[in-house]
Amino acid sequence: MAARTTTGHALDVAALLTDPATRIVVCCGAGGVGKTTTAAAMGLWAAEHGRRVVVLTIDPARRLAQSLGLTELDNTPRPVEGAGAGGGSLDAMMLDMKRTFDEVVEQHATPEKAAQILANPFYQAVSSSFAGTQEYMAMEKLGQLRAEADRTGRWDLVVVDTPPSRSALDFLDAPKRLGSFLDGRFIRLMTAPAKAGGRAGFKVFSVGVTMVTSTMSKLLGGQLLQDVQTFVAALDTMFGGFRERADQTYALLKNSETAFVVVAAPERDALREASYFAGRLDEEHMPLAGLVVNRIQRVAAPSLRASRALAAADQLADAEGPDRSATSAETEGLLRLHAALAETAERQERQVSRFTAGHPGIPLVEVPAAAQDIHDLTGLRAVAASLTGG
Ligand SMILES: Nc1ncnc2c1ncn2[C@@H]1O[C@H](COP(=O)(O)OP(=O)(O)OP(=O)(O)O)[C@@H](O)[C@H]1O
Ligand SMILES: [Mg+2]
Repeated sequence: MAARTTTGHALDVAALLTDPATRIVVCCGAGGVGKTTTAAAMGLWAAEHGRRVVVLTIDPARRLAQSLGLTELDNTPRPVEGAGAGGGSLDAMMLDMKRTFDEVVEQHATPEKAAQILANPFYQAVSSSFAGTQEYMAMEKLGQLRAEADRTGRWDLVVVDTPPSRSALDFLDAPKRLGSFLDGRFIRLMTAPAKAGGRAGFKVFSVGVTMVTSTMSKLLGGQLLQDVQTFVAALDTMFGGFRERADQTYALLKNSETAFVVVAAPERDALREASYFAGRLDEEHMPLAGLVVNRIQRVAAPSLRASRALAAADQLADAEGPDRSATSAETEGLLRLHAALAETAERQERQVSRFTAGHPGIPLVEVPAAAQDIHDLTGLRAVAASLTGG
């Protein structure tokens, strides 16, 4: 059953996924809207239609992870059992943010320096908790997978899920944010004593720095400060590498081989957020394929409007008084239930229509809300069927 909106034009997910020119699909959206589900469903469908796919998931729900064979967090794509009938193949992996950060350090620093950074307690804290690290590392991993696809020919499509950010924009902003963290004045100040050590001309500056560092020493404790300084000094030498990498991956996102799919819930705030994001992609010249409106409420009898169902229920309640038949009470109950669902469906329809009116150029596709969470391949196939109109 094609779950497409009648207004606006339909996002043809099937065409997008079978087009050999599509090499990267990025699923973005606000937290909890269905990014991971959509990414996995698209990956599975593409694999069952001849593509050789790797799906990068981020924090998938446990049961879904199990169905995809993702029991180990080891940053390695593995074949998904039971997927890929139809000539293609499906590999899936879960992003291990810390491990990815370590890999970046290992690639950019000499073995000796890398070991020094990795052992630094401050690095250990920062690499797993700095805001934006997960987004940055997702992007880094995407770059790695894309390069591996070229090198080995193992995949011809990379589908990426994005982290559970508050806003979809966080994904695009992460490299810049990490850059400004590494570039920041605070960091400069921290590294200054190490660099300026012994040079007379820096005396005045050094006094300032010493004051700052001694205050920090009191706050943080001498050993920790030392750790911070060595960490930052070491990281600083890698900064060029980081920046270059981020720039490369960012460029990849602007490539015509990439398609962004924005996932949103059929609610006002979510659609407004999706519209900001679409605008931002446009500014950045990043190719937006379209919008997936996920978890649309479907009703059994769409032609019976909420208002009519409610009026009929009221009539039943009024007409027969307190000692009416059980059937009548049941009918009234059903009508009220229908009215509530239909009201939700009508509200969602209005929100989607409003979005379409404001963005007639953005194709969209609707996916109905399933009765249960999507936690296995069967569930993913059902989502994919809605996505592709199959
Ligand atoms: N169409 C649907 N019908 C029913 N349940 C759904 C549907 N889409 C997603 N879900 C469920 O909603 C929950 C959230 O979905 P998902 O994990 O894909 O969202 P997400 O955007 O990746 O979330 P996060 O931002 O936390 O990463 C999951 O339990 C999933 O099974
Ligand atoms: Mg997710």
